[in-house]
Amino acid sequence: MRKNGPVTSFADRHIGPDAPALETMLATVGHASLDTLVDAAVPASIRGDDVLVLPEPRSEAEVLTALQGLAARNTVQVSMIGMGYHDTITPMAIQRNVLENPAWYTAYTPYQAEISQGRLEAMLNFQTMVSDLTALPVAGASLLDEATAVSEAVLLMRRAVRGKDGGRIVLDAECLPQTVAVVRAQAEAIGLPLEVQELGEGWEAPEDLVGLVVQQPGQTGVVRDVGTLIDLAHEAGALVTVAADILSLCVIKAPGELGADIAVGSTQRFGVPLFFGGPHAAYIAVREGLERQLPGRLVGVSVDADGDPAYRLALQTREQHIRRDKATSNICTAQALLAVIASFYAVYHGPEGLREIALRVHTMASTLADALRARGVAVRHDHFFDTIVVEVPRGADSVVARIAARGINVRRLDADAVAIACDERTTPEILTALLEAILDRRAERPVYTGPTVTIPVALRRTSEYLQHPIFSAHRSETSLMRYMRRLADRDLALDRTMIPLGSCTMKLNSAVEMAAVSWPGFAQIHPFAPADQTAGYREMIAQLEGWLAQITGYAAVSVQPNAGSRGEYAGLLAIREYHRSRGETERDVCLIPASAHGTNAASAVLAGMRVVVVATATDGEVDLEDLRSKLSAHEGRVSCIMITYPSTHGVYEEHVGEVCAAVHEAGGQVYIDGANLNALVGVAKPGHFGGDVSHLNLHKTFAIPHGGGGPGVGPVAVAQHLVPFLPRSLAPVQSPAELAREGAPVSSAPYGSAGVLPISWAYIALMGHGGLRRATETAVLAANYVATRLQDHYPVLFRGPGGLVAHECILDVRPLTKATGITAEDIAKRLIDFGIHAPTMSFPVAGTLMVEPTESEDLVEIDRFIDAMITIREEIAAVERGDIAATDSPLRHAPHTMAMVVADGWAQAYPREQAAFPVPSLRLDKYWSPVRRIDNAHGDRNLVCACPPLDEYEA
Ligand SMILES: Cc1ncc(COP(=O)(O)O)c(C=O)c1O
Repeated sequence: MRKNGPVTSFADRHIGPDAPALETMLATVGHASLDTLVDAAVPASIRGDDVLVLPEPRSEAEVLTALQGLAARNTVQVSMIGMGYHDTITPMAIQRNVLENPAWYTAYTPYQAEISQGRLEAMLNFQTMVSDLTALPVAGASLLDEATAVSEAVLLMRRAVRGKDGGRIVLDAECLPQTVAVVRAQAEAIGLPLEVQELGEGWEAPEDLVGLVVQQPGQTGVVRDVGTLIDLAHEAGALVTVAADILSLCVIKAPGELGADIAVGSTQRFGVPLFFGGPHAAYIAVREGLERQLPGRLVGVSVDADGDPAYRLALQTREQHIRRDKATSNICTAQALLAVIASFYAVYHGPEGLREIALRVHTMASTLADALRARGVAVRHDHFFDTIVVEVPRGADSVVARIAARGINVRRLDADAVAIACDERTTPEILTALLEAILDRRAERPVYTGPTVTIPVALRRTSEYLQHPIFSAHRSETSLMRYMRRLADRDLALDRTMIPLGSCTMKLNSAVEMAAVSWPGFAQIHPFAPADQTAGYREMIAQLEGWLAQITGYAAVSVQPNAGSRGEYAGLLAIREYHRSRGETERDVCLIPASAHGTNAASAVLAGMRVVVVATATDGEVDLEDLRSKLSAHEGRVSCIMITYPSTHGVYEEHVGEVCAAVHEAGGQVYIDGANLNALVGVAKPGHFGGDVSHLNLHKTFAIPHGGGGPGVGPVAVAQHLVPFLPRSLAPVQSPAELAREGAPVSSAPYGSAGVLPISWAYIALMGHGGLRRATETAVLAANYVATRLQDHYPVLFRGPGGLVAHECILDVRPLTKATGITAEDIAKRLIDFGIHAPTMSFPVAGTLMVEPTESEDLVEIDRFIDAMITIREEIAAVERGDIAATDSPLRHAPHTMAMVVADGWAQAYPREQAAFPVPSLRLDKYWSPVRRIDNAHGDRNLVCACPPLDEYEA
């Protein structure tokens, strides 16, 4: 607890309530101290060993110094390794105004569309950019990475092709090695036949072909006539995905122009740093007719209550929660912030700028190829975009070493060949250094002859792209800066309001934690850089994995999964492989409680399991009787149970030990979804109270910001017997601990979204054991304070031991809806008028609101939320009394825009004053929703997923 005197510890700044506030909150919930509260709330059966062996908390200055030391142990070289990762120049205007701006990085996923118009516009720009460049009409708003995007495309092709059950997928031998590894594992898990084939001349499409994946340019840089392959696959009744380099599409014919059904790839090289492999936004675009099969989020244009255009997430917004095991994908948290950066890169450069960059990159590669050939060195392909393969019989190792000695990393393809990928940063001086290193003698600077295209005419792009005015409107930095500010101002992010979203843990993402993300020592490292250049990263990752294992009580942790959904998939694959290693191949049933997050069921299907739902008892706990009957009905087939702890009902379930024991007795494994770990850190360890495996969400519990819908990191943590099945790494050199992991890789990059790991590392280093535990206790107190103060206004749906909730509480709006017609959605939209982000709506129980205040909100802010909810309750009471009809009430017309309030006519049955300033403090600090309530159904009926022409806004 904060002592009198100067504030010194970081924990005191991270945790919102100070000592007097804690006293007030404790008095309200009727407990003398945090200890007695937690003792009462958390069942003794799960407490056990709650000691965390972690380093002592460090000060902000100490943490920065330590991170600087780690960054200094990574070597920033000129990176020409390629393999889907290319160095790029992040325009400083974008770095400062977006990547380093809390208005952008602390926003949540735009489910509340009215307060998310800014980031939705930026994501719509991303979709338009992808759709234009791929020449396919519908593009989604970002996938996790290129390998998982190809995986998603393969699954999409399998869903969309009918009448070819058991048919196979063919992957191009030119696909990136990490793509092949990730997709192969996915196919294997669901029993989908898959082959890797050379797609050279004379290739014939197998009769049972379901889908073909072609990489263009190929991993060796080759640019081929993909159109012929597409035609052959189509003739065989298959679909075709082209994995395309986004920059190459400025000069090479687009997949859509060649007849491809799907295009996927990474947008990393559009201004997003290498980050040692991630986070980066992948893209997916599809031809007409496949849009309803798209995985991930899709931003669409709809209209608001005035008929004005407004953006919102279209179609699949909540599809996992509705369709669960039938969902198109398990992807939830994606890479929104990185998609936004890539979209601003396109806005910054425009079509001419991008073409110029692409041409320069291409010309660099051909200049080097010409210079080598002129000196008798063979270059493998005649047609390439940015990557050339230099033939150096038996000389690859020495050539790579000579190039490295000049500060440049290239790729050793095999003993006889070296691949060199040019990028935006490649200069003629770099080409000279390469030439001299390859020839092993001094060489004249190769002649750079200005932009020229050496790609055959038939393969060149001639069509226009990025013709929407948005891609030419902001050429000056002043204009761009103001555009970025304008969009940010339309949104409510954590820099303006608490975001009390249950199950999301929107806590502080402190400035000191964020600082290292853009340092070159972390940002400019290629994921496949030689191990001796990445010592700092690897040390930091090993420490973080160790700390997370300590916190969760598991034997080992892998940070490779780049979202919670990927962590679930990795954990379930580990369970599957464990059973198989013991010859128990029949075990394919995954038991999932009805209240589980939708990703759980979707992930189980991806891991090749059958989902069997376990009922919820009336008190919100897993129904033990139903569990026992499901266990006996599926005797010998139970692979695992997937429970969330504390459950999504926001209570510490007393019987979790019995649940785990019953499943273990039946030979199953226990997966504990760790998304709610903010209620456990320092208090109890899932690895000690029955879990065999968990995933964590570092973008919740461990301070990585949500970025408007990503990035995320979803480490998977396992008990000793599952360690061999953790995702293996494709890193060039690995520690003994890593070498012991032989499971399927689940991300493109060896350490997933490594670039944001310094955030969680810093969080734990700053908080230490005591700070982490106090954060948990305060989060539990805050939720109970909200529950206590609001219980007379809105019933609290579930309570656990001691009548207490865990770190979140569900407010039941259904009785009010029944009595008045006012819905949880009405309340969520009315909160916008108060400048407050809504709690989680209708999850896990339809018609309710789930509130998670977190430890970072101070009492003033928590009270602001509570007072808003009470004021709203009074407005509902007016409907109850019959003073005003629900349809006429401010609740139904919320949110109110400034335009509406100042309009000459005022047709509403309540005063303007009440509409705009329901509490007096809003007169000084008022957030105005830029649009009125959005009509979602209209947008789904009239799907528009690219920037509409400007005249639609002016009409
Ligand atoms: C309980 C639970 N499990 C799993 C997930 C999935 O995590 P992610 O969104 O990182 O994929 C979430 C995300 O909100 C969650 O709340």
